[in-house]
Amino acid sequence: MRIPLIAGNWKMNKTVTEAVTFTKQVTDQLPDPSEVETAIAAPAILLQPMIDANSGGRLQVAAENCYYENEGAYTGETSPMALKDMGLHYVIIGHSERRRYFNETDDIINRKVHAVYNNAMVPILCCDETMGRRESGEHVHWVVSQVTAALKGISDDEAKKLVIAYEPSWAIGSGKSASFDQAEEGCYLIRQTVADLYSDEIANQVRVLYGGSVNPDNVKGLMAKDNIDGVLAGGASLKEETFLQLTQYKN
Ligand code: PGA
Repeated sequence: MRIPLIAGNWKMNKTVTEAVTFTKQVTDQLPDPSEVETAIAAPAILLQPMIDANSGGRLQVAAENCYYENEGAYTGETSPMALKDMGLHYVIIGHSERRRYFNETDDIINRKVHAVYNNAMVPILCCDETMGRRESGEHVHWVVSQVTAALKGISDDEAKKLVIAYEPSWAIGSGKSASFDQAEEGCYLIRQTVADLYSDEIANQVRVLYGGSVNPDNVKGLMAKDNIDGVLAGGASLKEETFLQLTQYKN
């Protein structure tokens, strides 16, 4: 049984005051985590105030990124060891905006996946897909190669805890989500890739999320698909009301 995960990705949005207000407002209204897990990934400077505001509540506060070294002369980077020390469980790794604007390569992403596991946390590994690749029929190879490269050297025990998000970049922030069938097809492809790299048993434990213009109107249809175990929502996670609606997709 894979527990659904409804995750928000705030990107570079919100002040400490706004993040604390949001957290206090939603935490008591979130579903029981043994039925639906809920997380918000936020910029590093907001994490501790959000953890304090959540104080034992149901929201998982998550990071959007980290570096692959635990400490050292890496000005401006965020240590995975420090994130673990704050009590974090999830770190987004390899979001398409990190790949595109910050030149994160498959090798860097693989090192970050290792760093997250080495600090006893779990990566939410993102794979993207561009419209150009879809139109030229290269998208399947592209998704498979991103997953394969990111998981190089990752053990069976680590892999089974993994969360992977299928996020076609043509659907991100565009207001135009992939169709339910396209989203299911992408998530199925990712699960098959994990099965090929590891085993069917591990692939059945891995949670695969869809991301790209998820909103309260399409979440139910997405969550009804067999291979979609949750969503990673950007814009719709910024407002308390819409984030709560996503988490209550069963109602
Ligand atoms: P969006 O962003 O929901 O605003 O499309 C999703 C993401 O980038 O994770």
